[in-house]
Amino acid sequence: MRRKIGLIFVPLFLLGCAMVSSQIAGGKIVLRSETPAKEGYAGPQKCAECHQAIYNDYRATAHPYKLRPAEEARLVGLPLPDGYTWDDVSYVIGGRRWKSRYVGTDGYIITMTGKNRDVKGKNQFNLATGEWVDYHPGEKKPYNCGKCHTSGYSEEGHQDGLEGIIGTWAFPGVSCEECHGPGKAHAAAPAKTNIKKDTSSAACGKCHIRGDKDKIPASKGFIRHHEQYNELLASPHRDMQCVDCHDPHKPLRTAIIADCASCHSDIAAQYKGSKMERVGKTCEDCHMPMATKSAVSTAKWQGDVRTHLFRINSDPNAKMFTDDGKWAKGYLTLEFSCLKCHLDRDTAWAAQYAKRAHVIGK
Ligand code: HEC
Ligand code: HEC
Ligand code: HEC
Ligand code: HEC
Ligand code: HEC
Ligand code: HEC
Ligand code: HEC
Ligand code: HEC
Repeated sequence: MRRKIGLIFVPLFLLGCAMVSSQIAGGKIVLRSETPAKEGYAGPQKCAECHQAIYNDYRATAHPYKLRPAEEARLVGLPLPDGYTWDDVSYVIGGRRWKSRYVGTDGYIITMTGKNRDVKGKNQFNLATGEWVDYHPGEKKPYNCGKCHTSGYSEEGHQDGLEGIIGTWAFPGVSCEECHGPGKAHAAAPAKTNIKKDTSSAACGKCHIRGDKDKIPASKGFIRHHEQYNELLASPHRDMQCVDCHDPHKPLRTAIIADCASCHSDIAAQYKGSKMERVGKTCEDCHMPMATKSAVSTAKWQGDVRTHLFRINSDPNAKMFTDDGKWAKGYLTLEFSCLKCHLDRDTAWAAQYAKRAHVIGK
């Protein structure tokens, strides 16, 4: 029964997104999320006047949807926690890829649900399963997440005058001017000198980070989410920039501008024709497994976010995490790279093949 909700919800949700996107691109809807709430900003619609193609791509990424005013989230048919109507919600957090959480009209994250608001939790919706789960159940939880979820954020004040929201922003969600800086002057007199373009991993790492960049926090057998920068710095690609592989304006499906084979052509050639290549498995299946969890784990060693560690330790006794489980060690073990698919095998079995993993069955 629970699964059914997810199965029905997802197609309706995608249809809703597609309809709303076309109306926005056609200029039929002016979004509050695209109207500057601070001086010096122009707003994505203004940028689109000269950078239309980039704007269209960007609208298909998750960035602009990170924090949505309730009236925009309701357009695409996101579900509500039990006991709430859209009038009881000010913003929706996420709900694009993994999970959604909700901000009440007082600016605090909703943590009590049910008709009488006496149920603690059941306040986070997981998209993959259609289930409601607990997030800080019953706590008085301010929305203090603006640093990574909004544009032009400042810690001072309370957005929209809502007590529970810590800080103010120019736009909810990650918009053009979060990455490029305030662009009103540039939009009025375009030049390279009055707009920022930062290609460093650190610029993305401002948000795709957790805690200290030199450590990789873990919990319950998985790497925790939004740690791509921490992971990259521990990987053999530490000197690369995120934008060496990612087009920052494109949705993930089409964002990868340099695939593994473009730099590792020798290994790609070896891999071609191997057993696993023939059954459709890719470099990412072994080297970027979902060893990270945001919302759900659907099977053993299977989280829901791809990990950016790349290097596989093929020692059958290697441990992915420190003994206290709090940190990842900075490489992938055979559990995450092999056994998540070969569930009936063990690491000793996988280790026999690991050194020639690219030519299995050739
Ligand atoms: C009136 C047209 C116009 C508008 C509006 C506009 N741009 Fe531009 N933009 C340009 C032109 C033209 C260039 C190329 C300037 C050059 O090469 O000297 C440019 C260049 C850029 C660059 C590249 C800078 C570099 O160092 O290579 C970025 C980034 C950029 N714009 C972002 C934005 C953003 C963000 C907005 C909205 C806030 C925006 N633009 C609005 C016309 C515009
Ligand atoms: C250091 C930056 C940072 C902070 C602080 C942060 N987040 Fe996030 N959050 C991210 C990033 C980056 C992602 C997406 C990448 C990932 O999950 O690996 C994300 C994803 C999410 C998602 C899933 C979005 C979706 O579409 O499925 C939710 C929900 C969320 N965060 C809620 C929160 C809440 C609530 C807070 C504050 C209590 C918070 N986050 C604080 C950076 C941050
Ligand atoms: C997540 C951060 C991010 C967001 C959001 C973002 N950009 Fe960019 N943008 C970048 C980075 C980084 C580059 C440089 C890419 C490179 O050179 O590899 C860039 C490059 C550009 C350029 C230079 C030309 C090009 O294609 O490289 C323009 C113009 C531009 N962005 C406009 C925009 C506009 C308009 C928006 C919103 C509709 C936007 N950007 C949203 C990060 C971002
Ligand atoms: C201001 C914070 C912030 C910055 C800066 C930022 N991101 Fe993100 N990014 C997020 C958040 C939050 C999400 C999750 C959005 C969601 O799922 O609702 C996300 C999601 C993503 C995703 C996955 C979702 C998708 O769009 O398909 C990719 C890939 C990504 N970011 C890459 C980048 C890159 C590359 C840069 C640097 C050019 C960057 N980000 C800069 C906050 C940020
Ligand atoms: C833009 C070029 C580039 C791309 C794209 C790229 N790599 Fe690499 N990769 C490198 C370089 C350069 C090194 C060597 C770093 C070093 O010597 O420490 C490397 C190192 C590695 C290593 C460690 C090698 C060792 O000796 O231990 C692995 C594993 C790896 N890459 C896997 C991948 C996978 C999987 C992908 C695709 C998801 C990928 N790479 C995409 C350039 C690239
Ligand atoms: C079946 C899982 C699997 C697939 C698929 C896979 N690899 Fe590997 N790869 C491994 C394992 C395991 C190792 C570690 C071998 C060792 O310990 O010597 C490895 C090692 C590597 C290394 C570092 C060592 C070396 O030989 O230089 C690179 C680089 C690499 N792989 C790139 C790739 C690329 C690129 C692809 C896709 C064309 C790919 N791999 C596909 C499992 C895989
Ligand atoms: C060596 C290439 C490479 C580098 C460098 C790289 N990525 Fe990725 N990234 C990928 C690939 C490949 C994927 C998987 C794309 C897919 O699923 O189609 C990915 C996926 C992601 C995702 C989505 C994860 C998921 O499961 O939904 C996020 C978020 C992301 N990258 C952010 C970043 C950030 C931030 C940086 C820099 C700190 C970065 N990436 C550096 C290659 C790279
Ligand atoms: C994404 C899933 C996936 C991952 C990850 C994966 N495999 Fe496989 N593997 C398969 C599938 C599917 C087959 C084909 C099964 C068949 O046809 O019998 C296969 C076949 C094999 C075979 C040949 C058939 C057999 O069972 O003897 C070996 C050996 C093997 N894999 C080892 C590995 C090792 C070692 C790793 C990690 C380095 C790995 N695999 C990672 C899915 C995966």
